[in-house]
Amino acid sequence: MPIQAISWSPSGAVRIIDQRALPEAEITRDLESAESVAEAIRQLQVRGAPLIGIAAAMGLVVGTRDIRTAPRSEFLARVAELSDLLANTRPTAINLRWALHRMAGVAQSTLGDGAVVWERLHAEATAIWEDDRAMCRRIGEHGLTILPDGANVLTHCNTGALATGGIGTALAPIYLAHEQGRKVHVYVDETRPLLQGSRLTMWELVHAGIPCTLITDAAAATLMRQAKVDVVLVGADRICANGDFANKIGTYGLAVVARHHGVPFYCAAPWSTVDSSLPDGDLIPIEQRAPGEVTVMAGRPIAPEGAAALNPAFDVTPARYVTGFITDRGLVQPPFSESDP
Ligand code: MRU
Repeated sequence: MPIQAISWSPSGAVRIIDQRALPEAEITRDLESAESVAEAIRQLQVRGAPLIGIAAAMGLVVGTRDIRTAPRSEFLARVAELSDLLANTRPTAINLRWALHRMAGVAQSTLGDGAVVWERLHAEATAIWEDDRAMCRRIGEHGLTILPDGANVLTHCNTGALATGGIGTALAPIYLAHEQGRKVHVYVDETRPLLQGSRLTMWELVHAGIPCTLITDAAAATLMRQAKVDVVLVGADRICANGDFANKIGTYGLAVVARHHGVPFYCAAPWSTVDSSLPDGDLIPIEQRAPGEVTVMAGRPIAPEGAAALNPAFDVTPARYVTGFITDRGLVQPPFSESDP
């Protein structure tokens, strides 16, 4: 297990690694309320599609622990209110809503007063976290089958232990290959504007002793042209029924360039990332973040004062560019429906 991005603190708070501070400082924060969990998700202190789902489920638990003794109807009303708050922190990753939906199902189906329901919610949040850990491992095992020995992998954003409850999604096959003594090397896109690649993926891989090289986002096309990349592995925040998927801005460009150069392009995600209610990617809500994340870096302006900037946090990659989807249920192809495969 490379790193634990989230856990329960001994006092029952949600313990996170503050990912804004990495790699400069390793700061652990104990979040004592649903509001502070919601704020940590908004600010990307916790991030990555599976991890924000886990955090939201745990946030619901800390947010309701003080009203455990309330009558059932009052307790359930508070669950619904906090669930709305947590669901509305970030719009693109479906895992967030998936986890809260699972929690709501447990709350409604558990008979008894607030204390009984709260205990079940606590167990369910822990189960969501543990299930994700197991899903990551299965994604890793399925992903190993497409990873040649000695592979040069190119990846984008952070899809590792810092983005999940386990060893990650797109990074999971890489962790397993390394664990099994297979040779693997990773080119890591820095991932503008918030640098999840350079700050987080490089931090994880360097800690794990996995050979890796940081590149600017703009260098990826040249490396593919020079035949230095054997496979592109990325994660996803939402996968539609037809296989179009949203992931960190820049993923679409990588997919087009990979196709142009004949490089296999895989998307790795747990089944909780599939939103079969959306027929195609045009319907995915794309988070627009503050322009200041583009015009300011590490507290210093990198554009003139008053410069306008656009900051879509995600893009949509059409399914036709995807060689295959590596999921906990195996290597799959669209179309996807609830009951697949
Ligand atoms: O804005 P972020 O850092 O939460 O974006 C994360 C990504 O885009 C990841 O690639 C995606 O969530 C998959 S994480 C296993």
